[in-house]
Amino acid sequence: KAHKVVVCRNFGPDAMSLLKGTPELDLVIWPDDVGCDRAWLMDNIPGATGVVLTLSDKVDPELMSRAGPSLKVVSTMSVGYEHIDLRAAAQRGLKIGYTPDVLTDAVADLSVMLALMASRNAGTAVSVAQSGDWPNYPWLPFAFCGPQLSTTTTSPTRKVGFLGFGRIAQATLARLVPFGIIHCLYTSNPTSPPNHKRDAELVSKYQLQAITKVDLDELACESDFIFVLAPGGRDTYHIVNENFLKQMKKTSVLVNASRGTLVDSDALAKALKEGWIWGAGLDVVEGEPKITADHPLVKEPRCVIIPHIGSATLETRKDMAVRAAKNLIEAIRGGQMPAQVDLSSYL
Ligand code: GLV
Ligand code: GLV
Repeated sequence: KAHKVVVCRNFGPDAMSLLKGTPELDLVIWPDDVGCDRAWLMDNIPGATGVVLTLSDKVDPELMSRAGPSLKVVSTMSVGYEHIDLRAAAQRGLKIGYTPDVLTDAVADLSVMLALMASRNAGTAVSVAQSGDWPNYPWLPFAFCGPQLSTTTTSPTRKVGFLGFGRIAQATLARLVPFGIIHCLYTSNPTSPPNHKRDAELVSKYQLQAITKVDLDELACESDFIFVLAPGGRDTYHIVNENFLKQMKKTSVLVNASRGTLVDSDALAKALKEGWIWGAGLDVVEGEPKITADHPLVKEPRCVIIPHIGSATLETRKDMAVRAAKNLIEAIRGGQMPAQVDLSSYL
């Protein structure tokens, strides 16, 4: 008997042919890559065994109830799963597939890009050239200057801080080593003990002076660049708030390439306006995609914002889509998903 599977958008030729080539699946497909709306999903989910979707599609108890007891598998093409109610999923015994690892390098690349863009005023600089305004910006000794990411003879002790120190943060650190970074601070889930063995290995692999697990206050005070690379959700909601931003250095830069909900946008706008920090680079903003020109952060010249494109490389997005398809197929066949979210803490 075929399993009904709802596919919420076109996931590209590779993933779609994997799904279409699996005889056990009875596919209900939204044909374009913009994706279905909530009403279509609610109409089509009843009786489905599985659903393939992205972070734009909310998986809440209402959707799960509508699907009914047939629903077994939710496969998301994303590493984040803030859009899925994990507690409700655990209670219903759902399997949740996601796409870690394949996007680590792309997001780490982009995190470095945001650090450079924000620190070097690239947002404003690009718009000067694009708007034909270069004649009004002759080469001036101190125009566009911002803090340097790489170490210099006069400032040899750049410290980078990671709020969250998982795969993407560690891959970002690896990219900063050739910039001369030898001192790394991080915070991570307070319930997990420091991982001294891993940290010692990273120190020796990258010839660092130190990797130190610190608390949030110390991370804020000591870091020259702070990378927010932790999962969203209740535990990290507005973890970067007014108190955190007030403790940061006036010359420091904040990068967020994880979820918008970790940063209090109003507090960040105030911090930028009043000069508590030097600048910010954001791939994600709370409330996205409804971020328009009147948003307080969009109006801040020292805030570089790009519209959630962290993993958007040709190679990585294809790998993510294929992994999402494989997660779904394996789970429906009763096998082990290549990457399944661990729900044991919700049971
Ligand atoms: C992107 O934000 C993802 O979760 O994959
Ligand atoms: C910059 O273009 C320089 O020549 O220093």
